[in-house]
Amino acid sequence: MLVIRLVSGPAGPDALVLPVRPGGPDSPDSLISPDSMASLEPGLVPTAVSIGDVRAEAAAVLPATRLTGAAGEVREHLRPGGSPARLWLLGVGDGEERDWRTAGAALARAAKDETQITIALPGEATAALRGLAEGLLLGSYRFRLTEAGKRPALAEVAVLVDDPDALAGTLDAARATAETTRLARDLTNMPSSTKNPEWFAAQVAEAASGRPDLHLRVRGPEELAAEGFGGLLAVGGGSATGPRLVELDWRPEGARTHVVLVGKGITFDTGGISIKPVPAMKLMRKDMAGAAAVIAATLGAAELRLPVRVTTLAPLAENMVSGSAFRPGDVIRHYGGLTSESTNSDAEGRLVLADALAYAARELRPDLLIDLATLTGANAVALGKRHAALYSENDTLAAGLLDAITAAGERAWRMPLADDYVEYLASEIADLHSSPAQGAGSVVAALFLREFTGDLRDRWAHLDMSAPSWSDDTHGELVKGATGWGVRGLLRWLGTLD
Ligand code: BES
Ligand code: MN
Ligand code: ZN
Repeated sequence: MLVIRLVSGPAGPDALVLPVRPGGPDSPDSLISPDSMASLEPGLVPTAVSIGDVRAEAAAVLPATRLTGAAGEVREHLRPGGSPARLWLLGVGDGEERDWRTAGAALARAAKDETQITIALPGEATAALRGLAEGLLLGSYRFRLTEAGKRPALAEVAVLVDDPDALAGTLDAARATAETTRLARDLTNMPSSTKNPEWFAAQVAEAASGRPDLHLRVRGPEELAAEGFGGLLAVGGGSATGPRLVELDWRPEGARTHVVLVGKGITFDTGGISIKPVPAMKLMRKDMAGAAAVIAATLGAAELRLPVRVTTLAPLAENMVSGSAFRPGDVIRHYGGLTSESTNSDAEGRLVLADALAYAARELRPDLLIDLATLTGANAVALGKRHAALYSENDTLAAGLLDAITAAGERAWRMPLADDYVEYLASEIADLHSSPAQGAGSVVAALFLREFTGDLRDRWAHLDMSAPSWSDDTHGELVKGATGWGVRGLLRWLGTLD
């Protein structure tokens, strides 16, 4: 991973990056002289530390670069014989955190053949640094299982600020956020030939090892059977690798709030006996992105020593087709005793989540309960590729989550827990029907989950994040493949609790 250092000077000899903002009626120049033509041109952002003559040179070349100052634009300018030898001009838009995140990611990709670069930040650099560092670390992410092609040379970015010590905490937060997001991406990108429930649990154990303040318990099939986790056992029953329940606890001294995070951890979803067609199955190794996100967020909370207790549950199973697979029409007895009739083995996510939610509500009794799941294709039908669907009866909780998710650079949209559809959950032979044929897919899945939240019903939120868990292309801080969606938003949100 790229090394980012805070320095107060001087710039390295190789490459110096200077931020550029758009011109226009909002630029500060226009406040001084509203009629000035200069106000309509993009301009260099004033930097906290003086960079000498290079600034005048950059200002002189700026018009010829045709930069507009939009976040993420990048131009290289050569200075033969000079030090620094190259100038990079980087559009940072309005200079908000999200603009710097976009700019940082674009810079990491454009300057990949540099080895060391220095970037000069403006004064008041907190938001800029947070965005820049996350953008650099997330935009430079690669997932490869073999070495092929040329690796990016860019190894170190020095960030020029007036008071490095004052910004160290901001850089730590950005680094922990990006590192854990990268971990979630790694877990999600991993092919399922390697990634089975046992492997996933071992990865969590490895990540938590050497951290005595994190407590891990992994239940295997026997313990799950003894305690009545019928949904997890049914879904995992068709696989050569049995299901696991990972329980990871960050319990800082003096914590007043206890949050339980639950993440869907289907390490591969064939659909089971109700098998998926080829195109729908192609990417189903990502069906544990919810589990990856909540585990990574918990590791991040521990890394940042957030003063809130976080217990994470990752029900892990492989939904396979075999002689021991569960069947359409089976009735499953979930943790706590509620039963569900399942007529489509491809609606497996809600079955494993039901167990975990019921266990959380009955045994862990947290203050707040949040689940993340790649639960339905209907998420993308309703909201497109970039927004998760958020469900909650609790307006304060929903608003807090949406604010944190947005501030962290992710996206979600609140959806209704429409009472109209509750009747579709009725079964003639069990307490509930898990895959009703009527109603909106993402909504009825949420309504099904709600039945298992017990006393936590109005302190629960569900995020159907199947759409934004994967990106079809590289743009902004996202790289084609797993996005790590949810880690950033959850960490921000946990940071607002006390
Ligand atoms: N893992 C899928 C949902 C999914 C679909 C995630 C596409 C990412 C992309 C889930 O287990 C599933 O198969 N859901 C079904 C539910 C249906 C059978 C009620 C779906 O969405 O079609
Ligand atoms: Mn499925
Ligand atoms: Zn699934």
